Amino acid sequence: NDLYAVVGNPISHSKSPRIHSLFASQTGEAVEYTAIQAPIDDFERTVRQFFERGGKGLNVTVPFKEQAWKLAARRTARAEKAGASNTLYFSEDGVLTADNTDGQGLVQDLTSNHGVTLNGARILILGAGGAVRGVIAPILARGPAALTIANRTVSKAEALVSLFADDAGNTEMAACGFEQPDQPFDVIINGTSASLQGDLPPVSANVIGENTVIYDMMYSLQTTTFNQWALDHGASRAYDGLGMLVEQAAESFRVWRGIAPETSPVIDELRND
Ligand code: ATR
Repeated sequence: NDLYAVVGNPISHSKSPRIHSLFASQTGEAVEYTAIQAPIDDFERTVRQFFERGGKGLNVTVPFKEQAWKLAARRTARAEKAGASNTLYFSEDGVLTADNTDGQGLVQDLTSNHGVTLNGARILILGAGGAVRGVIAPILARGPAALTIANRTVSKAEALVSLFADDAGNTEMAACGFEQPDQPFDVIINGTSASLQGDLPPVSANVIGENTVIYDMMYSLQTTTFNQWALDHGASRAYDGLGMLVEQAAESFRVWRGIAPETSPVIDELRND
């Protein structure tokens, strides 16, 4: 079997081994996928050892995505812009290559699994950290009418708007604090890590209209804090990031194996765990 793994710290709760083993049995690919906890200060050695042992590909998660990006000698265009990598492999010509499948995972979940149209949509993103940076270019590629990035630290939202100015096309981009947006958006994506602390970004409920689609990049067994707030304030549809997790995994699998697994049975199975 070809060996793959996810590297993070902590890693014991990662769903990636389960997702990839479901992909492997579904596609009949000879893939073995494990989880590796790298020491906080020794990510690089963990990666080198894995590939020296013959490993074929790595997923990278918190807190090593930026280090993975730096370590790689080559980056795909989408990884370059994301500033972080969740997918490493050696290219056919033997170069350690960094890709980033997170943004594709989010866009795929929104559009294919949930039927959300991003083209022409007015989108509000909450947060301006590494997770948000990773998804902006794939969202812009779908041609939204407007993309507003709101963050607690406004300067970080402004920096992202500048960074992606070249990718904006006809999309109107703006940066602001949480308090400023006061009109309904078509799609609102929570990319802050606030919910990890049970916190809510202090955004006005006026951003939620009758048809607003809510997406929290986090997922949990119960409805996330952010999604519950949105539902309480009139949102009709609120999704969590489980689909994004499975879709980014599927995109990594496709990059490594050249085969795109079917995601919906895997999402259903994880949801019922
Ligand atoms: P990640 O990799 O999850 O994106 P990050 O790069 O540290 O992690 O970014 C975390 C994001 O969540 C940032 O947008 C952060 O806001 P700041 O840029 O102002 O720090 C946001 N965030 C974290 N805790 C928050 C809280 N309690 N309330 C609101 N926003 C929060």
